[in-house]
Amino acid sequence: MTIEDNIQLLLSKREEAKLGGGIKRIEAQHKKGKFTARERIELLLDEGSFEEFDMFVSHNSHDFGLEKQHYLTDGVITGYGTIDGRVVYVYSQDFTIFGGSLSETMARKICKVMDQAIKVGAPIIGINDSGGARIQEGVKSLAGYAEIFQRNIMASGVIPQLSAIFGPCAGGAVYSPALTDFILMSRESSYMFVTGPKVAKTVTGEDITTEELGGAEVHGKKSGVAHFIADNEEEGILILRKLISFLPQNNLEDPPVIECKDPIHRMEDLLNEIIPSSPNQPYNVKDVIFSVVDNGEFLEVQRHYAMNIITGFARFNGMPVGIVANQPAYLAGVLDINASRKAARFVRFCDAFNIPIVTMVDVPGFLPGSNQEFGGIIIHGAKLLFAYGEATVPKVTITLRKSYGGAHDVMGSKQLRGDINYAWPSAEIAVMGSAGAIEILEGRKVSKLNSDEAKADYIKKKEEEYSQKFANPYEAARHGFIDDVIEPRNTRFRVIRALQTLATKKDSNPPKKHSNIPL
Ligand code: HXC
Repeated sequence: MTIEDNIQLLLSKREEAKLGGGIKRIEAQHKKGKFTARERIELLLDEGSFEEFDMFVSHNSHDFGLEKQHYLTDGVITGYGTIDGRVVYVYSQDFTIFGGSLSETMARKICKVMDQAIKVGAPIIGINDSGGARIQEGVKSLAGYAEIFQRNIMASGVIPQLSAIFGPCAGGAVYSPALTDFILMSRESSYMFVTGPKVAKTVTGEDITTEELGGAEVHGKKSGVAHFIADNEEEGILILRKLISFLPQNNLEDPPVIECKDPIHRMEDLLNEIIPSSPNQPYNVKDVIFSVVDNGEFLEVQRHYAMNIITGFARFNGMPVGIVANQPAYLAGVLDINASRKAARFVRFCDAFNIPIVTMVDVPGFLPGSNQEFGGIIIHGAKLLFAYGEATVPKVTITLRKSYGGAHDVMGSKQLRGDINYAWPSAEIAVMGSAGAIEILEGRKVSKLNSDEAKADYIKKKEEEYSQKFANPYEAARHGFIDDVIEPRNTRFRVIRALQTLATKKDSNPPKKHSNIPL
């Protein structure tokens, strides 16, 4: 063979690999409104940055006629490239080859990029579109999944791991995405479940569609499994790129600071008036977030799930932060099981990757009732408490309004190693609200009063006394639990200065094998 022949052979093999499972299957993929595995990588990475591994791999299977069907790449495209110039590793399952099902060799390809991502210290992004275990390979495929799971576990807290679900993801296959930091699903084309509708029908008699059982809406709103829902794959890929922009490459690096053109001294007069005069009236805490962060840009995580707490990424003077905020506009911002779990996981992610946490507090307490108690609010609330107390990243907390009871302690309080704790003048930091407190403290006296009018007058007087003493930030500030009471419109600048000061903060936890967070 001449050198030209050699090169020709290489080029034709490359062309063959690029065709995946063939034109017909590529067309079928497009007809479903889906991109191919390769197209997805092209969209995700900076133009021309993709370096592919293992293009010439094919399976080692000899059963069920597979020995006669070989496709280069064997159902997954792997390699590395850049997003905004920063290295990321990727794998993208190719549904056109055996439905993207996982073979032994395919698992090996995925493990190779995972291993290298861990060694290099760069994020890994997995794009899932697969019929699950390659049925013809049996137990070898199951072993392949377990190899991937083990790497997901080892990489957890070391490099950011992101999963996009752009097609089927079913059976045990769901557990690799579930072990990663973030799951993004596209509407209509993706679904995730441990057992599908047919099994559900056989075992429980339940009649349910694929979409209803494991579509993006379900996991974005009901189960909380998905952190992001995208209208389509293009939007999903933009979200992944945006998400990466907030994250460090690994746990030993700080998150990337970018130039900030938004003035750090920007005053927001509307914040001085945002808190309604009545303590029971809601307002949208996202208005506070948008007005204080750089350019009003906020990437919300789990936007449609447990909406009584808001989590997401933003920047202050170019520095990425994780924001956790109670949302008075939804269930009065109460802490319940789902909100506790959602925020706890987010706080732990930020802490693992050196992302400072800014907490905005307006919380009336934990949600009362048998539903929550039977569901284990004690253990789930403890998760959030644990996450805050364990976190060693800079923690800046601003109490906007209510901060009552146990929920006060949980939400980034001073005693959970909050570094800088501010309060607005509207803050009410107390064991409970005035109505509840007076009912308990004065109930006996009230019952002895003769008329309803006398009762109402007495309660009103006592509630006012209580509010004056406790429903303000100064009692907490008097004890040093609040470092300063700040003017709301100046919040942006005060937070930026706090974060700048805390940038060199060092804190640690005692040596141990690992903690035992209440799971
Ligand atoms: C081998 C598979 C496959 C699989 C699909 N294909 N799934 N090949 N192993 N698991 C092949 C099909 O034979 C077909 O090949 C091509 O992929 C496309 O599949 P279609 O069925 O034509 O596509 P579609 O109608 O879109 O349906 C997609 C699907 C369906 C819903 C994913 O294919 C399906 O139900 N597959 C089986 C799912 C499953 O039960 N997997 C095992 C789960 S258990 P041709 O040649 O016609 O193009 C599991 C355990 C993991 O995963 C445990 C980890 C711990």
